[in-house]
Amino acid sequence: MCGIIGFTGQREAKNILIDGLKSLEYRGYDSAGITLSGRDQFKTIKTVGKVSDLVTKVNEFSDLKQTSGIGHTRWATHGGVTDQNAHPHTHGRVTLIHNGIIENYHELEMELSSARKHPISQTDSEIVAMLIDSLYDGDAFHAIREAVKKLEGAYAFCILFSEEPGTIYCVRNASPLVACHVPEGSIVASDMVALIKFSKDYFVLPEHHIARLTKEDITIYNMDHEEVTPNLLHVNWDITAAQKNGYPHFMLKEIFEQPEAIRSTILPRITMDNLPDLSVDQIPNRIFEKVNRVIITACGTAMHAGLIGRALIEKLLRIPVVVEIASEFRYQEPIMDENTLVITISQSGETADTLASLRLAKEAGAVTLSIVNVKGSTIARESDYVLYTHAGPEIAVASTKAYTAQLSCLYLLSYHFAYLRRTITKEQCAEYIQELKSVIPAVEQTLQLDKKIDAIGKNLICKEDLFFIGRGLDYALCCEGSIKLKEISYIHSEAYAAGELKHGTLSLITEGVPVVALATQSKVYPKMISNIREVKARGAEVILITNERQEINREIYDYHIALPNTSDILAPFTAAIAMQLLSYYTSVHRGSNVDQPRNLAKAVTVE
Ligand code: F6R
Repeated sequence: MCGIIGFTGQREAKNILIDGLKSLEYRGYDSAGITLSGRDQFKTIKTVGKVSDLVTKVNEFSDLKQTSGIGHTRWATHGGVTDQNAHPHTHGRVTLIHNGIIENYHELEMELSSARKHPISQTDSEIVAMLIDSLYDGDAFHAIREAVKKLEGAYAFCILFSEEPGTIYCVRNASPLVACHVPEGSIVASDMVALIKFSKDYFVLPEHHIARLTKEDITIYNMDHEEVTPNLLHVNWDITAAQKNGYPHFMLKEIFEQPEAIRSTILPRITMDNLPDLSVDQIPNRIFEKVNRVIITACGTAMHAGLIGRALIEKLLRIPVVVEIASEFRYQEPIMDENTLVITISQSGETADTLASLRLAKEAGAVTLSIVNVKGSTIARESDYVLYTHAGPEIAVASTKAYTAQLSCLYLLSYHFAYLRRTITKEQCAEYIQELKSVIPAVEQTLQLDKKIDAIGKNLICKEDLFFIGRGLDYALCCEGSIKLKEISYIHSEAYAAGELKHGTLSLITEGVPVVALATQSKVYPKMISNIREVKARGAEVILITNERQEINREIYDYHIALPNTSDILAPFTAAIAMQLLSYYTSVHRGSNVDQPRNLAKAVTVE
């Protein structure tokens, strides 16, 4: 949700900024811009469109030799998608880029207008440039500190002052910023993918601190202007993880990375005796002792992973679990106390609503544990305990490998929790873990269905509505299948509990309407077959997904995807991958921009 980059150093900044923006483009792709700062000249170039459009504009200039600058790729919040609203924004002596939303921008604008200052754009961000400029008397630190005191909302800013060329100031609240200093200079960005070319070591700029980047170093100050030393972090992936490596899209690459993502997430947390061991994550066993209620809160795909988590914990522990959409949860009055375990799930670790839910849980005194992919992200840092998914960077907007890595954590966590509470025996736990490990080859085999699923996807290109039906765990997966398909193919789709269809939705099933029927759960298999017959009788085109072992009557489907056999409880891994492939190929055949679907962006740092 808006990508930010800043560089100041020994080399020309232009290409470093453009390369950084290309790697950050998945965070927003409405418009892009850079400002280069040099001793004699500040130059801003910005445009509606993709980073490639910006490159065309930048190439019109031959004299961009500055060694310092900032760049931005936008996901519009305030103000339409226009050149004027693209970042950077300049007002007086201040130029800035912003990721986030300033909620009180209108009040600030009113205050500043009375001082006869008027913005050129319709953005909240420009108001902040005006505000900082109005407070600037030659002391950048003072101007920024006084400005942020007045701001309400989420923000990450990189700020240039015309009187200090070559210096970049940064400040953030909630929205992410990471930075590193390397021999080439100092570099800051909203995501590690833009830094990885330079370093695997970095730090997260602490919230409510001001960073000053020069070509020599990075200094961080608290709001009392005292110098602060940040904690260094390290990532264990490299630049190739953030590249397509021959795949046509990041999404396909990430789908195919799932065996490795699951392996890296599960195996380091399993003992020689096949028991889960979360001590590697510094999660003490004692936190599970008194838990009598679990709340899982997350958004979108991460929330769908939570639905599987609920089924597991309730089945294995008989403890009540609720799954709450974070944007709703944060505005409710949820019942929580010190015996409530609140699990927040987030790939980015920055989703604003999930973060707010975590903060709410902490205030209520609940035990908080997050399942997060991005190391050092805000949700990870603010949770009492973190279970990292080791999926590596996920660049495609549609989440795939992060989802199955989240499932991996939820399975481990549930087995661990159940074993500690003695609701399963040591032997049962070891059996569960053994089975969980067998998911890795099953996932590899599922990926071999690629061509078959591609052909099915081709048949969906002219469809405008589609239904996913399933029962139990399959229903939770249908929710995930549906979001994946609609977000990238733009086909309207709905997930339905198969038994609920005849309470209304069946009226929408007519000749040729595709229905993806997920039937991996033996307990409800006969019921599911009856529901499939109901839609088939109304002319539906049925895409049936089952385990290989199921015997199926040829009359009930048009296409059949037979997943490698797993136990019912583990079928979500293979079924999810089949549905990811179906969404992917349908979208590719429809000509959609798979990695950057319209209106969306990754890491939703605004409410
Ligand atoms: C869908 C998708 C989104 C995210 C959601 C939460 O494919 O990617 O629904 O799952 O925005 O994001 P994180 O996990 O970063 O909190």
